[in-house]
Amino acid sequence: MSKRISYKVEGDVQGVNYRSWAAGEAKKLNVTGYAKNANDGTVVGEAQGDASALDKFVQHLNMGPPAASVNKVDQKEIETKSGDSGFERRGIRATALSKQSATHILRSLNSTISASSAARPTFICLQAQCTAPRRRQFSSSRPALIKDFFPPPDAPNIRITEPAWAHPVYTYEQMEAVKVEHRNASNWSDYAAISAMRVLRWGLDLVTGYRHDKGHALDSITGRPKTLMTERKWLIRFVFLESVAGVPGMVAGMLRHLHSMRRMKRDNGWIESLLEESYNERMHLLTFLKLVEPGWFMRLMVLGAQGVFFNAMFVSYLISPRTCHRFVGYLEEEAVLTYTRAINDLDAGKLPKFEQMQAPDIAVKYWNMPEGHRTMRDLLLYVRADESKHREVNHTLGNLDQKNDPNPYVSTYKDEGKPHPVKDIKYQRPTGWEREEVIGTK
Ligand SMILES: [Fe+2]
Ligand SMILES: [Fe+2]
Repeated sequence: MSKRISYKVEGDVQGVNYRSWAAGEAKKLNVTGYAKNANDGTVVGEAQGDASALDKFVQHLNMGPPAASVNKVDQKEIETKSGDSGFERRGIRATALSKQSATHILRSLNSTISASSAARPTFICLQAQCTAPRRRQFSSSRPALIKDFFPPPDAPNIRITEPAWAHPVYTYEQMEAVKVEHRNASNWSDYAAISAMRVLRWGLDLVTGYRHDKGHALDSITGRPKTLMTERKWLIRFVFLESVAGVPGMVAGMLRHLHSMRRMKRDNGWIESLLEESYNERMHLLTFLKLVEPGWFMRLMVLGAQGVFFNAMFVSYLISPRTCHRFVGYLEEEAVLTYTRAINDLDAGKLPKFEQMQAPDIAVKYWNMPEGHRTMRDLLLYVRADESKHREVNHTLGNLDQKNDPNPYVSTYKDEGKPHPVKDIKYQRPTGWEREEVIGTK
């Protein structure tokens, strides 16, 4: 039997493609009606169809498209109507635009357009229809304050700026083969490194509110297992992790660079790999910043962590570079664990928004993600594979003579047919290569 409801969707639902998405879902379920943006920031509308189809439609409204964050959906049964021609996505009427919405839209326009009273409401409405808001999937900032952190630079003569270091190609099988592993501590330097890493890990968990659920209670709306780590919480954790992870390579590379000049000696290829690692970590950070906008608290934490961590690494690397590389090796073991857990959560259906999300453009270009492998899961696989490489590189560097040994990752071997350290993940050695294997014994 056909019935009709009116509904109201509350949450972060405007400017996130909610109405078009709802129209698509309605079409699939044979539901008619409409959806429109309301002045108070909600989406309202009416829907008519089979009772079971309407129930499903309301369930979908609760989920929303990937960029939306739905707080609640109110519905009320009303009299059925005839004459619906389908499901309409209704536009914003000039008179229906609130001052807050208008300000938000104006701020997203070209900066040459002033937000003064000279901008006419009709013009604002046209822009609302044709300007796709540039925003992240998850944001704790008020909509009016959202902006793109790093839009393309204003350089009319430049066509493209290529990344400094091209990323090596990983195959899908190689990325799936990455495993959580641990290198056992065997001397005082290793124990010092692992203890320092545990302190940092504790701080990271505290700041990012990391809690992995152990139960499997089902969500009443989605029917999926509940989790204590939401998509937003994972992304915030990734941002914090990556903002810290980009520090050690830069500090080590910088100190070795200065050391090489001061001592007037070759560095034997370490500097480039270390700087490339910090570049890779920064690309991870920039990728996640396209998906989530951290709030002021997280920014403050990142600032504090960078200030403390940079100086701690600087002093520690001067005292014992070997311990620092081992410390980074252990830190990267934790990074592999974090991304593996996120992938497992995703595979278990606990992160429905991640299932619908695509990797941002910056990631597709950087990793050369092939067509058909550009989902959030693929992105996590790429990042995890990078972390596994950092784990291996730093454990290996921690095994070498810091002053004299060449960097095994940029060296050509006498027997190239034998497995040896490489830039990609063809040969995976999670606990690092031993010195005798790569440098050899006399
Ligand atoms: Fe990373
Ligand atoms: Fe890393």
